[in-house]
Amino acid sequence: MELAERIRTRRSVQVYEDRPVPLELVEELLDCAVWAPNHHLTQPWRFILVRGEGRRRIAEARRQFAESEAGDPERRKQRGEQAYTITMGVPAFLVVVMAEDPQPTIRDEDLVATSCVIQNFLLLAEERGLGVAVKSYAATCYPPFRDGVGIRPGERVVVTLQLGYPGRQPSARPRIPARERLTVLDGAPGA
Ligand SMILES: Cc1cc2nc3c(=O)[nH]c(=O)nc-3n(C[C@H](O)[C@H](O)[C@H](O)COP(=O)(O)O)c2cc1C
Repeated sequence: MELAERIRTRRSVQVYEDRPVPLELVEELLDCAVWAPNHHLTQPWRFILVRGEGRRRIAEARRQFAESEAGDPERRKQRGEQAYTITMGVPAFLVVVMAEDPQPTIRDEDLVATSCVIQNFLLLAEERGLGVAVKSYAATCYPPFRDGVGIRPGERVVVTLQLGYPGRQPSARPRIPARERLTVLDGAPGA
């Protein structure tokens, strides 16, 4: 498949087969994905693969987070259980972590570079038949999540990627044509 078609047909896969995700495949995809543009080659990223019983770390943190939110206690408990069950239904997670540089300019650049790595990973995974969904997870900044997966001081979770072989291929939602968002400046200033 042409790259252009791969970019257009990649989708966030949220339903998975009950089939493990091989470590070797994730390593191979990451090894290629990190060849992303990166100012000063800071390479600020690291990745945490969470699978098998390890998923309980994320599931438990998400349950506690849901239970800690405002509202009716019974409802919160239900939401917590739901979050736990949904999380355990995902074959694997790849937590994308970035070291936060004290300088805002470098931090911003690093976030862009890490985003490029993520998009590379999504496309490479799609090419190999592996489904991915990008997730921000409200629980990400919550200490039990950070502690559960081993986020160190000075690091932030950029996103968590859900990984698994697709159980269902989602349909696409249309995009606004980019030409509607394109400004072309080809005249001299003041002309
Ligand atoms: C930074 C980032 C965070 C996202 N977080 C979530 C999320 O928390 N939950 C979710 O369902 N989708 C999340 N998404 C996925 C988008 O909702 C998804 O890409 C969008 O709906 C377009 O669908 P597609 O990826 O299938 O083209 C996130 C995407 C990005 C780039």
